[in-house]
Amino acid sequence: CGIVGYVGDRIATPMLVEGLKRLEYRGYDSAGVAIMNGKGVETRRAAGKISRLESVIAADPPLGTMGIAHTRWATHGPPTETNAHPHVSQNGKIAVVHNGIIENATVLKAGLESRGYVFKSDTDTEVLAHLIEAAYAGNLEAAVIEALSQVDGTYGIAVISSDEKEKIVAARKGSPLLLGIGEGEYYIASDASAILSHTRHVVYLDDGDIAVLTRDGYKVVDLDSTLQEKPVTRIEWDLAQIERGGYPHFMLKEIFEQPTTVENTMRGRLILEEGFSKLGGLNIPKEELLAVDNIIITACGTSWHSALIGEMMIEELCRIPVEVEYASEFRYRNPIVTPRTLCIVISQSGETADTLAAMREAKRRGARTLGLVNVVGSTIAREDDGGIYLHAGPEIGVASTKAFTSQVVALALFTLKLARLRDMSVERGRELAQALAKLPEQIQSILDRAGEIEEVAEEFKRASNFLYLGRGYNFPAALEGALKLKEISYIHAEGYPAAEMKHGPIALIDEMMPVVCIAPHDSVFDKITSNIQEVKARKGKIIAITTRDEPSLAGKLDYEFRVPETVDLLTPILASIPLQLLAYYIAVKRGCNVDQPRNLAKSVTVE
Ligand code: G6P
Repeated sequence: CGIVGYVGDRIATPMLVEGLKRLEYRGYDSAGVAIMNGKGVETRRAAGKISRLESVIAADPPLGTMGIAHTRWATHGPPTETNAHPHVSQNGKIAVVHNGIIENATVLKAGLESRGYVFKSDTDTEVLAHLIEAAYAGNLEAAVIEALSQVDGTYGIAVISSDEKEKIVAARKGSPLLLGIGEGEYYIASDASAILSHTRHVVYLDDGDIAVLTRDGYKVVDLDSTLQEKPVTRIEWDLAQIERGGYPHFMLKEIFEQPTTVENTMRGRLILEEGFSKLGGLNIPKEELLAVDNIIITACGTSWHSALIGEMMIEELCRIPVEVEYASEFRYRNPIVTPRTLCIVISQSGETADTLAAMREAKRRGARTLGLVNVVGSTIAREDDGGIYLHAGPEIGVASTKAFTSQVVALALFTLKLARLRDMSVERGRELAQALAKLPEQIQSILDRAGEIEEVAEEFKRASNFLYLGRGYNFPAALEGALKLKEISYIHAEGYPAAEMKHGPIALIDEMMPVVCIAPHDSVFDKITSNIQEVKARKGKIIAITTRDEPSLAGKLDYEFRVPETVDLLTPILASIPLQLLAYYIAVKRGCNVDQPRNLAKSVTVE
């Protein structure tokens, strides 16, 4: 979900709507604004995309120089207008927008109902609106603090009241929020991109912070009303980086950016002559890094797939046991963490609620934490002990592409460093460093042939199932290829270790089943060629990603796409590019909204 708020001298609605549009990738099943119009709070809300809200506003624009706005990704209750934010309290004076989940909403609701409050929506947010009204005694800041003291769960909220017409009160616990500082005007937003066209100066709020904004200034206090000192940060990336730059979709732009983004992940970090990498942000003294005797990598979604590749790299080259855990599972098990555990947390956004909670849990149990994060200043990046920023630039398409390849590169840089500190030879180090350095140009050579993939997409756009097979380093690439297709084209797809296929999925194979086989010339190549034969014997249609001519496969491949050769551990990066393109073109040909696939959100800030 996304939040924007404004207080200043200008008419608020247009800039709130502009901000919402920039946040639309975070959730987009309903949206709304609440504006202080001089007399009281006026709301406009609509189910569906922001464009629906725009029509509602155009029909009857609310006027005022202060307001709050929200774009929603439904958790409690379906995406209807009634459930859309802002939610207004019983007396109509207080409006609230909220990201996160109030866990004790049912209990609080029952209490409020017994006091005569009538609920209009199914949301947990409406509970907050009524609670704040009930606590209000002439001071909005105090009422918000009082209401929040009764709440369990997570929130990023912005609140206005028609009794204090020039004030926004915002609060954060577990859901990102930042203040934007302009001249005589102030903003609140869940994500800097919402306000970047107006100001680059921001104050990131931390959990437990309450912010009060008026047109004359702002202050941040904690839940005991103690004033907090907060640094002002300048945001360096610009809006052009988050605009489409001539591409029909963000996803395609981001796929095509990968020669540059992969380069940016490595910039200043790769020392070719020494076969070494320099990672200034790790923040771990060499002795401690060498003392690490087990590693846990935790993440969700696409980031979890890069974690699986990282596991193989680290185990192969550093000889340290690695466990990969879904963040959502890790925190509810009783994981084995010792002071010599390193917990690597991978997240594009740095805000995924489960990943953040897993990192906090690992910390609590004494692990040292390392974040592989793309969004600078995000919560995970601020709370980890050290990290490697991906520097891939803003990723807007919901289906992650460039962040994935940068994550794998960052994992390779980390592996190189740790392996060389342990017992990897200079020669092997150089070989890996050189292979990394070649990636940008190799990725470009694949992108130059995107048209070939588009033809394959045309052929298979009507399929209703897909199987993706890979072995070794390319098993996670198969999982990621299948996830890309599922996410944006709504075709059912499964990724499988190629040999394991005969223990189940082989039953599905017939002439209707396209099977994508990732088969670079690596150490398991011979094995995967036999798996390809097994598919062919059942008349499956084979789309193969290969690196060389292979006589034994002559006549067996329905489609073949060549990618350049590299060292084994980097093959999933090159194999992923055609798979991203395949998913993209199939989705476009099926008329799907690739940048905003149904039901998904870019950054899931709820559990
Ligand atoms: C959501 C997105 C996925 C992403 C996952 C993890 O589900 O739709 O594309 O991989 O979250 O996000 P993160 O920002 O933590 O990498």
